[in-house]
Amino acid sequence: MQVSEMFCRNENGKSGFNVNLMPVNKIYRHLLDNKNRYLHLYGGAGSGKSFFSAQKFILRSMLEERHRILLVRKVARTIRHSQFGLIKSLLYSSGLSEHFKINDADLRMCSLYNGNEFLSAGLDDREKLKSIFGITSIWIEEATELDYADFNQLDLRLRGRTKNYKQIILTYNPVNSFHWLNTKHFKDSFKLKTTYKDNEHIDDEYINVLNNLKEQDEEYYNIYALGEWGVLKNVIYKPFEILNAYPLCFDETIYGLDFGYNNQTALVEVNIKDNVFYLIELIYQCGLTNSDLINKMKSLQIKKGSYIYCDSAESNRIEELKRAGFNVFPADKSVKDGIDYLKTCNIKSRPENSGINKEVLSYCYKQDKDGNLFDEPIKFNDHLMDAIRYAIFSHCRKRREANIRLL
Ligand SMILES: Nc1ncnc2c1ncn2[C@@H]1O[C@H](COP(=O)(O)OP(=O)(O)O)[C@@H](O)[C@H]1O
Ligand SMILES: [Mg+2]
Repeated sequence: MQVSEMFCRNENGKSGFNVNLMPVNKIYRHLLDNKNRYLHLYGGAGSGKSFFSAQKFILRSMLEERHRILLVRKVARTIRHSQFGLIKSLLYSSGLSEHFKINDADLRMCSLYNGNEFLSAGLDDREKLKSIFGITSIWIEEATELDYADFNQLDLRLRGRTKNYKQIILTYNPVNSFHWLNTKHFKDSFKLKTTYKDNEHIDDEYINVLNNLKEQDEEYYNIYALGEWGVLKNVIYKPFEILNAYPLCFDETIYGLDFGYNNQTALVEVNIKDNVFYLIELIYQCGLTNSDLINKMKSLQIKKGSYIYCDSAESNRIEELKRAGFNVFPADKSVKDGIDYLKTCNIKSRPENSGINKEVLSYCYKQDKDGNLFDEPIKFNDHLMDAIRYAIFSHCRKRREANIRLL
């Protein structure tokens, strides 16, 4: 695409970026021009917060000069599959990718058209963060992951003279009403609460999932569907300890697989050493058909002969995987026993497991409006949690049974 094609005249006859290249949800449009220092985009799941933030920063990077936009999360390695991945895919889908030099290794993007840059840093890498100068705006994704000191540190980095307005966009779900994001006062800020109803591009399946939360747990529904501040109660697991490095070899490797199409398909590798379980998130993706899944699993070089425990409700899909040469078994799906068993296990995660690390924090038991607590988890953002349970619980039960038979 020619650079000139990216611009057009708006109603006032002024030249501006052709936003038709990148349709912005109506509710966010006025924020394209919002210049407050702090722009809070919070609310329910799937409301288009992240999408809009990516769009706004791409547009600013095309229309304004001398930008160094910083993409931040608590853990640096999770940026690849969130802000960086989203901006990159939007650049491709809008035909702008050829105007950017994209450095996947460093999570940087540089505009060949005007030199503007996107840089990434996590709060877990203070040295890198300190070494980045001349920041002109910041996007903090999943801002509830940050503590107030983290935020202040970033805020201080955004000082000094810049050609254009400086803005920190904070995107988050309102998961804890006591959080500093809710309790602290921000001068020069604008807060927009959105829900899936504001996202013109959300699919019906996802709407159903969100609506179903109402019957499962009212508080959860209020947070994730209605985008209201609440407090997540009855969280099932303690967060898995996050290690930067795993052992180099393991006693055994198994896999857990939860099938999805409209929802994510989740495949987790579970490495076992000395009764400790080391998780690797391999697939967490919507829209995979069985043949897509088989191709992906082949390219991931799943260890031949390793047990893969799958969602047993999908016998056709299991059969197809078996025919493709995978060592698949229906999982033991006893939810309560499985969860109780996993609570006794020593499970480790790593920073790259961004889906796992996020799901575990919001994986909760159901509680109805009268306060009755159930043994079942809320069916939402639970695909990786299921896959992990399928692998560990089914395998350990299989091992226990094998031992009993040997006696
Ligand atoms: N402007 C848009 N154009 C096309 N699709 C969009 C747009 N905004 C959101 N979506 C779709 O809606 C989904 C949810 O949006 P997202 O920004 O991830 O929500 P949130 O960050 O609020 O949870 C995205 O994965 C994308 O498929
Ligand atoms: Mg988001």
